[in-house]
Amino acid sequence: MKKGLLVFAIVLTVTLVLSGMLFAQAKKGPATDGKAVWDFVQKGKYQSWKMWPGTEAQYAGPEPHGAFLTTYVNQVAFDSIKAKKGKFADGAMIVQENFGKDKKLKFVDVMYKVKGYNPGGGDWFWAQYKPSGKVDQEGKIDECIKCHEAQKTNDYVYTSKMK
Ligand code: HEC
Repeated sequence: MKKGLLVFAIVLTVTLVLSGMLFAQAKKGPATDGKAVWDFVQKGKYQSWKMWPGTEAQYAGPEPHGAFLTTYVNQVAFDSIKAKKGKFADGAMIVQENFGKDKKLKFVDVMYKVKGYNPGGGDWFWAQYKPSGKVDQEGKIDECIKCHEAQKTNDYVYTSKMK
């Protein structure tokens, strides 16, 4: 009888801990890892997300990102842009498809906001992928940060004013 109770308590605890972890993960999004982020946006069918407010599919974009761009945002990012409070909330994700002059996909670039990840750089995780999903570069990528830093007062983004 006592043993049964103990087993029950253990099973209950494990279940609660596991579901707590799952919930935290679902809420927070993937780890700051190029492959994990790619799997997350594929599973989440990012092409069905909203586009950055005011943009459309394959709009003409300036270098270096490509002649044409499609910029998707997850719900957290969308709400942050709309809120006009100057910053993206934790978990915001931006997925930008970069097309060449021939409108063929060249790269997929991602910015992913993770609280505490890089306080000196707006807490953005950066990644660049080949169309196949192969990680080209990931993490605190100097090249990306150096250029996007010019937009530091706009939370490192260019496409529209965050305030
Ligand atoms: C030389 C400057 C420069 C570099 C380097 C650069 N970007 Fe950008 N990025 C821009 C500009 C300008 C825009 C806005 C126009 C556009 O969307 O291309 C932009 C837009 C973006 C966007 C859409 C959100 C926004 O800022 O409006 C993402 C996502 C992005 N870049 C990711 C990256 C990643 C990842 C890297 C590094 C692999 C990178 N960028 C390197 C200049 C740069």
